[in-house]
Amino acid sequence: MSVPTPCIALATGAPLSQVGLGVYQSAPGAATRDAVTAALDLGYRHIDTARIYGNEADVGAAIRASGVPRDQVFVTTKLWNDDHGYDAALRALDASLSRLGMDHVDLYLIHWPVPERRRDSWRALERAFADGKARAIGVSNYLVPHLRELLGEARTVPHVDQIELSPFLQRRDTCTLCREHGIVVEAYSPLTRGKRLGHPAVTAVARAIGRTPAQVLLRWGIQHGFVVLPKSIHRARIAENAALFDFALDPAAMAQLDALEEGLATGWDPDGEP
Ligand SMILES: NC(=O)c1ccc[n+]([C@@H]2O[C@H](COP(=O)([O-])OP(=O)(O)OC[C@H]3O[C@@H](n4cnc5c(N)ncnc54)[C@H](OP(=O)(O)O)[C@@H]3O)[C@@H](O)[C@H]2O)c1
Repeated sequence: MSVPTPCIALATGAPLSQVGLGVYQSAPGAATRDAVTAALDLGYRHIDTARIYGNEADVGAAIRASGVPRDQVFVTTKLWNDDHGYDAALRALDASLSRLGMDHVDLYLIHWPVPERRRDSWRALERAFADGKARAIGVSNYLVPHLRELLGEARTVPHVDQIELSPFLQRRDTCTLCREHGIVVEAYSPLTRGKRLGHPAVTAVARAIGRTPAQVLLRWGIQHGFVVLPKSIHRARIAENAALFDFALDPAAMAQLDALEEGLATGWDPDGEP
């Protein structure tokens, strides 16, 4: 990357690179290894996987083969829905670490707010954090009600909430609550899985500044202070998706993008999940 990616400090003090490579739907095997290899070669230092993606082993193998020291790569994985519960969650983290070939992850997330069982799982994540197996812990797909429940009883405030975010789905109340509690917000599906890359407002901004629609959506997230997690298996796009720090969107462009809210959830929608 021509310009280094800035970091955001987690409440733990650990620096988190503001652009991470997502590997959801990167096929296990060579496709994931090649994507991670390309990303590390291009300067990425943050990879976002999950047990359910089925490619933790490939993420670990590619990091080891890259020659980039382990302590310079921020690795996230996630607790899947059928692994909830105190003991089950601790076992699931051990199994993820074994597949990754690592003795710790930099961030372990509850993938989805599974009713009731999420509370025991959080205690397990607090234990993993205390034991150093997860250097930071957090949640994903937690909206305001889930966060309020957790904040009401947690000993450790989650360090991160990873939610779907784009100009078309802004979750402002959740982001505000996170900001108030020092929780870093990570934007998943920041490219709307391609669904709005051709939106006329996005392409107009892109044309005006000589950037791509993908870069416009990602830069919007960066300027809102989010970590962005674009996924691609193509080296050229992996490079494009991180080339975000030698330009800025001016206030008028940000306002045009902010006006695009339409409640577009491209995957799961945790809104209304008890
Ligand atoms: N916590 C959760 O519940 C959750 C849920 C969903 C996602 N995530 C995380 O967030 C990451 C990203 O989300 P996502 O994979 O759903 O969607 P996304 O990043 O919004 O979009 C990925 C899609 O856009 C294409 N693409 C990538 N770069 C592009 C570019 N520059 N121009 C045009 N198309 C481009 C990709 O195709 P190619 O690969 O063919 O380039 C892929 O089809 C995931 O990989 C995962 O790590 C987390």
